[in-house]
Amino acid sequence: MDAVLGNAPRASRHAAPNHSSYSTSAVNFLASFYRSSIGKKWIVALTGLALIGYVIGHLVGNLQIFGAPEKINQYAEFLHSMPRALWVVRSVLLAAFFLHIFTTIKLATENRAAKGRTNEMRATTSPKPAKKTMVVSGLLVLSFVAYHLAHFTARITDARFEKLNHDVHTMVILGFQNPLVSGFYLLSVFLLCLHLSHGFQSVPQTFGLNSKSLRNAITKGGQALAWIIFAGYASIPLAVLLKQLTPAH
Ligand code: HEM
Repeated sequence: MDAVLGNAPRASRHAAPNHSSYSTSAVNFLASFYRSSIGKKWIVALTGLALIGYVIGHLVGNLQIFGAPEKINQYAEFLHSMPRALWVVRSVLLAAFFLHIFTTIKLATENRAAKGRTNEMRATTSPKPAKKTMVVSGLLVLSFVAYHLAHFTARITDARFEKLNHDVHTMVILGFQNPLVSGFYLLSVFLLCLHLSHGFQSVPQTFGLNSKSLRNAITKGGQALAWIIFAGYASIPLAVLLKQLTPAH
């Protein structure tokens, strides 16, 4: 017994970590991960992938406009019938959106500061035109999302939308009958897809994928996916402008 108890003082000196020390070290780990450049790149990539997931899901939902009007209207009604789930998705989306933007800006300012310190690095790592357009296309997509939410979610840009309730079919078609609105959407989804196609080029580097064939597959597959997404979104305003989609009543 004494032999067992004899270990007690040593055991208390090296007390087993409790739950709070585990969570403190997890927070410390996350904080130092976020402070590192690779950590930020991971955050940008993971939030970017989550946002692409939404963009694809939203496109699949929107393409139902080419079916019977009830189809897309019932889909919108179904989404609004689960307000809690809707707000959870909205909150995750919003957090991913702002984390993506904030972390990208932080990475860009840190890179610029590092380049200022190391003169010879300026010659070897000057940003390619594709990288430069990432900030501009990203900011334009941000302004598009703000307009889009006011247009189809808050419905404050067009007085005709107020009375439509769940008639998303009529709302979208009336909205896109205005060539200026359609033109703005087409330009914005083009920039969004340009942003996505460039974004995919950084994914293999961020995740440290060394296999050349895997890197090529992700880059090429990502670019193809970006332009399929563009074709899908662009088809809706174009179909309205070409009178292939008209209001049901
Ligand atoms: C032709 C292009 C698009 C159409 C026709 C369209 C249509 C719609 C409609 C009808 C809604 C309102 C749904 C409702 O409240 O019932 C909506 C909401 C939304 N759209 Fe789009 N959209 C398009 C492009 C995009 C793109 C490219 C993005 C992302 C960059 C996007 C992001 C969103 C977001 C975040 C919401 C808010 C969802 C919510 O209420 O929680 N949309 N869209």
